[in-house]
Amino acid sequence: MLANPIFNPNGDDRVENRSIWFGNTTNLMQLNDVRYSWAIGLYQQMRENFWIPQKLDLTQDVTDYWNLTTEERHAYDGILSYLTFLDSVQTCNLPHLKSCVTAPEVSLCIAEQIAQEGMHNQSYQYIIETVIPSDRRTAVYEFWRTDQVLAERCEFIAGIYQQYIDSPTEENYFVALLADYLLEGMYFYNGFIYFYNLASRMLMPGSADIFKMINRDELSHVRLYQKLLPEAMRLFPHSVEQIYEMFDRAVQHECRWTNHIVGENVLGITKSSTEQYTKYLANMRLRAIGLEPLYSGEQYQKSPYKHLERFSDTKKAGHTKANFFEAGVTSYVMSSGVGGWDEI
Ligand SMILES: [Fe+2]
Ligand SMILES: [Fe+2]
Repeated sequence: MLANPIFNPNGDDRVENRSIWFGNTTNLMQLNDVRYSWAIGLYQQMRENFWIPQKLDLTQDVTDYWNLTTEERHAYDGILSYLTFLDSVQTCNLPHLKSCVTAPEVSLCIAEQIAQEGMHNQSYQYIIETVIPSDRRTAVYEFWRTDQVLAERCEFIAGIYQQYIDSPTEENYFVALLADYLLEGMYFYNGFIYFYNLASRMLMPGSADIFKMINRDELSHVRLYQKLLPEAMRLFPHSVEQIYEMFDRAVQHECRWTNHIVGENVLGITKSSTEQYTKYLANMRLRAIGLEPLYSGEQYQKSPYKHLERFSDTKKAGHTKANFFEAGVTSYVMSSGVGGWDEI
């Protein structure tokens, strides 16, 4: 896969000749006539989701942090560290995937996604600086240096992306794109659930407020990949068995990590609910790209965390914490509705 030239005067931007990959773009952002109108709608929605982490109030979390059990505090630090890794690797990798996208309207969405992943890192920094005592902050960033399970998880995720950078074949591009979908669609959510679970017990409400904003952004990224992947399956060499294998491995890794960092030491989460939720997510993400679900048991067709939905939703009645700061943030939200909240 070759990166697009910075400017290609011999390109052809006519709508009928556009394609997401392998097109002949001038690289001009010609957005008057677009082939992929969904991309314009999605971009608009992503922009309307604008929020500023520092406007969310973490005051209660500072004291709550010391009211967590030792296990809960350990999980809080570890999950923050893992999420920091995920958004860091996204900020770093997405430009590589974007560099050969030949439809400017799709490029636009990925550019906004990159900006959001960068901002998510800033929100983790804000939480770490506000909630975590100064002598523990570096340890949160460097959790992977002392935690073998996290280190292996980070290396595995980064390794798939690195494979494409080292050998930019069409096969490796497809694998990197699918890995991106797995990250966006599966790897964040056991972490989000952990924070919503604490919030349901009146703990760390400011952290949960930040994570529900990140959650909303991530779901817009999921929707982007749900548009890209069916097209990629048409254009790139791959096999369906390979997709299922990657999903199954993603489920195993996600359960291994969640069982390690949360395990059964936190009220409301068990190894069994983690497995059920992760397989449910995998099934839902497969269906969304036109494939059959991988896990057939009845318990894998629904979320075990339905009761936490109201803690994740920024719009419905359960959103009761309307303080000054939060009102400032939600006032940015102008869209009539963001779909996907049934996806918890
Ligand atoms: Fe992110
Ligand atoms: Fe994302």
